[in-house]
Amino acid sequence: MIYLNGKFMPIEEAYIPVLDRGFIFGDGVYEVIPAYSRKPFRLTNHLDRLQHSLDGIRLKNPFSNEAWQNLLEQIIAKNAGEDQYLYLHITRGVAKRDHAFPANVPPTVFIMSNPLLPPPAELLISGAAAITAMDNRWIRCDVKAISLLPNVLLRQLAVDVQALETILIRDGFLTEGAASNMFVVKNKVLLAPPKSHLMLPGITYDVVLELAAANQIPHEIREISEAEVRTADEILLTSSTKEIMPITSLDNNPVGNGKPGAMFTQLHALYQQYKATDMRGRPSDAASR
Ligand code: PDD
Repeated sequence: MIYLNGKFMPIEEAYIPVLDRGFIFGDGVYEVIPAYSRKPFRLTNHLDRLQHSLDGIRLKNPFSNEAWQNLLEQIIAKNAGEDQYLYLHITRGVAKRDHAFPANVPPTVFIMSNPLLPPPAELLISGAAAITAMDNRWIRCDVKAISLLPNVLLRQLAVDVQALETILIRDGFLTEGAASNMFVVKNKVLLAPPKSHLMLPGITYDVVLELAAANQIPHEIREISEAEVRTADEILLTSSTKEIMPITSLDNNPVGNGKPGAMFTQLHALYQQYKATDMRGRPSDAASR
């Protein structure tokens, strides 16, 4: 079951008018929220990021955080699976095609849920391949905009060569992946690019840095040059749906010794432990209490 503009219905019955500004202009924002054991993970952080995206496109939030929580709980209850990922999508509504914002038009609100599966075990053992490309997206990558054409084209470059992800470089520095955040390991130090308008502030990125801090893993948040990416001992990918994954080949060259490294092994174990306890057990933030 999905939610569309006030109603729950099977996805096959859900339609939007062709003049929806999401369809015409890609004029909207979205969120992806993992739910473990039917409990949305870090709901407050995700709703804060949603508000930041809405502010970024000057669209009023249609709901309070309590109303969002209520809707998401209903969607979770109406769908199968203990672990689900929730997709929220808000557009500037339906109006005659004109770039200017329409007056007094209600937004389109769509929520769906899909099963949340851990990444394939064989990729965690062997590691995954990535390629690099120039980050040619706009410069508000901190806004989770539904207009994802550059991300789609960049990600397809990886798919075309059977790689998992495209790692993006802007002006000689690492930004993120086409649909993920990236970390680099150099001399046993975990390096993370600083949050800015050039990357999406990943919730999984936060989790990994918190786990590093709580477990005395040396880490540094700073600009990472393309040369450092190319000579990294390890490269790690994070996202809500992919958790933490090792990148063991970059542009057809091995990363480090070409196998998942010690930093990946440690952080992956910590992440799984965190998932088994905090993510499933006690509420992780105020909104889920
Ligand atoms: N994408 N950067 C980009 C460009 C992303 O699209 C994503 C996630 C991330 C990681 O953010 P988080 O850890 O909060 O999932 C970083 C989602 C999963 C998607 O578009 O499907």
